[in-house]
Amino acid sequence: DTVDWEPEAAGKSGYPHFMLKEIHEQPESLRQTIHGRIETLAGKVSLEEFDAGAFEDVERVQFVSMGTSHHASMYAAAQLTARGMTANAYMAGEYADCPAPIDEHTLVVAVTQSGETADTMNAVRRARDAGARTLAVTNVVGSSVTRECDESLFIRAGPEIGVAATKTFSSQVVALTLLGERIAEDSTGVQRAAVRSLLEGLADLPGDVQQVLDESNAEGIADALYGCDSYFFLGRGPAHSVALEGALKFKEISYEHAEGFAASELKHGPLALVTENTPVFGVITGEDDLKVISNLKEVQARGAPVIVVAPASFESEVEFADYHLPIPESHPEVAGILANVQLQLVSYHAADQLGRPIDKPRNLAKSVTVE
Ligand code: AGP
Repeated sequence: DTVDWEPEAAGKSGYPHFMLKEIHEQPESLRQTIHGRIETLAGKVSLEEFDAGAFEDVERVQFVSMGTSHHASMYAAAQLTARGMTANAYMAGEYADCPAPIDEHTLVVAVTQSGETADTMNAVRRARDAGARTLAVTNVVGSSVTRECDESLFIRAGPEIGVAATKTFSSQVVALTLLGERIAEDSTGVQRAAVRSLLEGLADLPGDVQQVLDESNAEGIADALYGCDSYFFLGRGPAHSVALEGALKFKEISYEHAEGFAASELKHGPLALVTENTPVFGVITGEDDLKVISNLKEVQARGAPVIVVAPASFESEVEFADYHLPIPESHPEVAGILANVQLQLVSYHAADQLGRPIDKPRNLAKSVTVE
C-alpha cells in the first residue's frame, strides 16, 4: 500500500489551498494580534513596544504602503481622522516620488506584511531623510522594514503563504486600530470614553469571524454570479477601503475584471459601466453607511445584481438587494473586518469555480521587491 502524500499538501492541513486555510486561520491569528494588548475592563490599550506618552508629540500621521496593506492603512487613516487627527494613507510608490510635507510632529507608519516591499522601503527612506519619525507595522520579525524604521509593531498573524493577503489584512487593521487609539490618546491627552466598547468589539472579533466562517453563504453567491463581465464593489468611509480590498482580491485570484469605488464616485463616471452583467457589492458596516443603499438602488434600476454585505440586523433595510452576505452584530469599527472575510470567501469561491491557481496567481509575487 502507498499513501499519497506531498509535503505541500500537508502544509495545507487538509485545505485545498493555502488561501482557504489562511482565511480559516483568522480567528486564531486575530487572537494572537490582540493577545496581551487590550485591557477591556480598564478600557485601555497596552502596547509594550511603546512607553507611556510615546506619541505625545505626534500631530500628523502618514501611512505608506501598497496593495492590501494600503487598504488596511486607508481603514486606519479614516479611524484616526474620526478621532480628530490629521492622518493620510499614501500609496508608497507615489509617496516615494513625491513625499508629503513632514515636520517634527509627523509620524510615518510603514505598513507591510512582508516587510520587504520595495515601494514601501523607498517611501520610508524618503520620510527618514526628511526627518520623520518612522514606525513599521509588519508581520515579519527581522524584515528589512524593521531595520529601516525607528520602531516596529508586529501584527503576529503567523506565516502567510498564499499570494493573496487575507489574514494579514485583518491583523493589520486590528494592530493599526490599537496603535491609532494609543496615538490619539497620547496626542490629545484624553482617554476616549468610547474606547471601551471598541475594545470589547475587538475582543469579540475572533468569535465573530468564526461565526462568519461557519455560516457563510459566499460560495452559493459566487456560483450564482459566475460568468459576468465585471464585478464592482462600493463603500463609504472606512468601508471604502473594504470595497477596494474586495475588488483587489477578486481580480487578483479570479482574473475577472473587478473595481472598487467610493459610493459617492459612482455617478461621476463608473455608472456608465453598469449593466445586468456587472454585479455590484455594497459594504455596510453600520448606520453611517446606510447612504450606500441609494447608490445600490441606482445600479439595481439599471439591471445590475446587487449583493449587500451588512450586519444581520439590517435585514429589512437590505431586503431590496438580490443577495445578502450577513455579518454578526459587532462594533461598527470592526464590522469592516467581518465584511472583508465574507468578500475573501466570495473571491476564493469565484476563483475556485473558474479553476484558477489560487495560491500563485499569474504574474504576481508574494513580496514585490522591485519598484
Ligand atoms: C495582496 O493580496 C497582494 N498580493 C499585494 O497587493 C500586497 O498586499 C502588496 O504587494 C503589499 O505587500 P506587503 O504587505 O508585503 O508590503
